[in-house]
Amino acid sequence: MKIVLATHNRHKVEEMKAILVDPLGDLKDRIEILSLEDFPEIGEIVEDGETLEENARKKARTVFEKTSVLSLADDTGLEVDALDGRPGVYSARYSGEGATYLRNNQKLLKELEGIPQKNRTAKFRCVISIIGDRIDDLAIGEVKGKIGTEMHGENGFGYDPLFIPHGYEITYAEMGSQVKNRVSHRSLALEQAKKILYRLTT
Ligand code: IMP
Repeated sequence: MKIVLATHNRHKVEEMKAILVDPLGDLKDRIEILSLEDFPEIGEIVEDGETLEENARKKARTVFEKTSVLSLADDTGLEVDALDGRPGVYSARYSGEGATYLRNNQKLLKELEGIPQKNRTAKFRCVISIIGDRIDDLAIGEVKGKIGTEMHGENGFGYDPLFIPHGYEITYAEMGSQVKNRVSHRSLALEQAKKILYRLTT
């Protein structure tokens, strides 16, 4: 069975592929994974929903309608309790026009200035929409943690240098990608997605 990952982000494609076709997993010989690189005619899909669910479904639906291939799209947000859940669905664009990972992290540090460790709790939420002929389903992964007071680590992307998952004293960016792939919000959501895909292929 073919599936297409509805993202242009190469980093994400690699991370998702690594988890979905985990060599010991049951799906390895059952699915062939494509990405939007295989469908260059599909341009950027505007993420204008008010929730992660809306955005993920819009991306998966658009790609399925254009390719007729089972589509899997994710949308992720960092929800910070002291900021009433912001940046949330706006995580990518948090620092405004031309936002970069660095500027987003700097803005987050500034907004949390003076807030003590115990009140710096946050969670990453990843929503994956799977849309195909016979299916329209969601897989969700959440990881709770806290926002550090300075950036640490070189790996990963986005808010990785600031996010310390619960049970760890290091940030996502200080973990190797293998460790992050085991514990991250996206890997939890993908594990759910794998179960859904597995059911579809049997
Ligand atoms: P997206 O929906 O996966 O593109 O995520 C939106 C934004 O959330 C990204 O631009 C990143 O800033 C942030 N983000 C998503 N996943 C991660 C992650 O695994 N680590 C750190 N930041 C992330």
